[in-house]
Amino acid sequence: MLNAGIVGFGVMGKTHCKCYQTLPGVRVAAICETGDIKKTVGTSQAAANLGKLDAEMNIDNVRLYSDFDKMLREEKLDMISIALPTFMHTDFTVKAFEAGIHVLCEKPMALTLLECRRMIDAAEKSGKVLQIGHCVRFWPEYVKARQFINSGEYGQVRAATFQRLSAFPTWGWKNWQQNGSKNGGAMMDLHIHDTDIILHWFGVPASVFCTAARGPSGDYDHIVTQYSYPDRVVTAEASWLMAPGFGFRMGFNIALEKATIIFDSACEPSLKIYTNDNKTYTPEPEKKDGYWFEIEYFVKTILGEKQPQIITPQQSYDAVRIAIAEKTSANEHRKVGLSEVS
Ligand SMILES: NC(=O)c1ccc[n+]([C@@H]2O[C@H](COP(=O)([O-])OP(=O)(O)OC[C@H]3O[C@@H](n4cnc5c(N)ncnc54)[C@H](O)[C@@H]3O)[C@@H](O)[C@H]2O)c1
Repeated sequence: MLNAGIVGFGVMGKTHCKCYQTLPGVRVAAICETGDIKKTVGTSQAAANLGKLDAEMNIDNVRLYSDFDKMLREEKLDMISIALPTFMHTDFTVKAFEAGIHVLCEKPMALTLLECRRMIDAAEKSGKVLQIGHCVRFWPEYVKARQFINSGEYGQVRAATFQRLSAFPTWGWKNWQQNGSKNGGAMMDLHIHDTDIILHWFGVPASVFCTAARGPSGDYDHIVTQYSYPDRVVTAEASWLMAPGFGFRMGFNIALEKATIIFDSACEPSLKIYTNDNKTYTPEPEKKDGYWFEIEYFVKTILGEKQPQIITPQQSYDAVRIAIAEKTSANEHRKVGLSEVS
């Protein structure tokens, strides 16, 4: 039995807990949370897209801590989920590696490349697994679309556009989710999901051109980016500027040579494929969500099970690097080459 720990028991800590508790061979042994866990369980105001978490887990037999160092000293953990506000990722990840524990840290890896590098160095020194929670790589609709593209049957991708729109977040510990200096604005917190999926599907772009608007976070909260590839047009838009009643919506439009793939999380069915010979498919994506599959992948990596490589620490570093290039592009109103950012 693998013993999992969780530090930070807000929206994502609870999400990880729920997933661990449905995986065979894993138990959540300990949680570290500085707030009142017993009080928050049952009353969490999770983001609309994350659903009702509290009813789906049981922490009755989990040991609870409010001091991370004490938890590391007293527990024999195999792995830990770092589900803390982004600006805290690096220090907690490094400590976990120093204690010899595998780490699944939420996305984005960190807010600066220097911090990302410290995390990778600590992982390499410890010889333990580091995975960053880029859950969209595991999200069923994105997995289905990628399989369809990679089958090669419908030719090359000629154009791809991705969208992720949300009302401004209302939750978060001590307003960290409303503060761009702590979360990097929608650029680093929300849009990075699509930056990362573009990286995953198409590799590192040669350059980016980004226009963006500052919003209530004080950082960029509405982003439109063009990613430069020699053979296709790729764009993404993300926003925290939607009205409060809007909730959340994600999607993509992919034009292949012989088919079009459309995903819109607000539609039912959400995923549709139109082929040039006038056929329409509505593939049934897996019922479990990307969080569950990313955690299953993390556990299988720790167990040394054979599986296709889906994410590496270097790729998570590159996702931050591309997002930083996008910020530079928006700041300086120019195209920014990825070779400029290291
Ligand atoms: N993958 C996704 O789809 C997704 C979605 C939302 C958030 N996130 C990421 O997850 C991370 C956490 O976000 P969240 O929305 O869960 O935040 P949150 O504010 O809901 O939760 C953070 C928790 O950490 C606790 N905490 C603060 N300092 C602590 C400490 N020293 N020791 C122990 N606990 C401490 C807080 O009390 C709070 O409960 C962020 O990096 C965010 O970007 C990812």
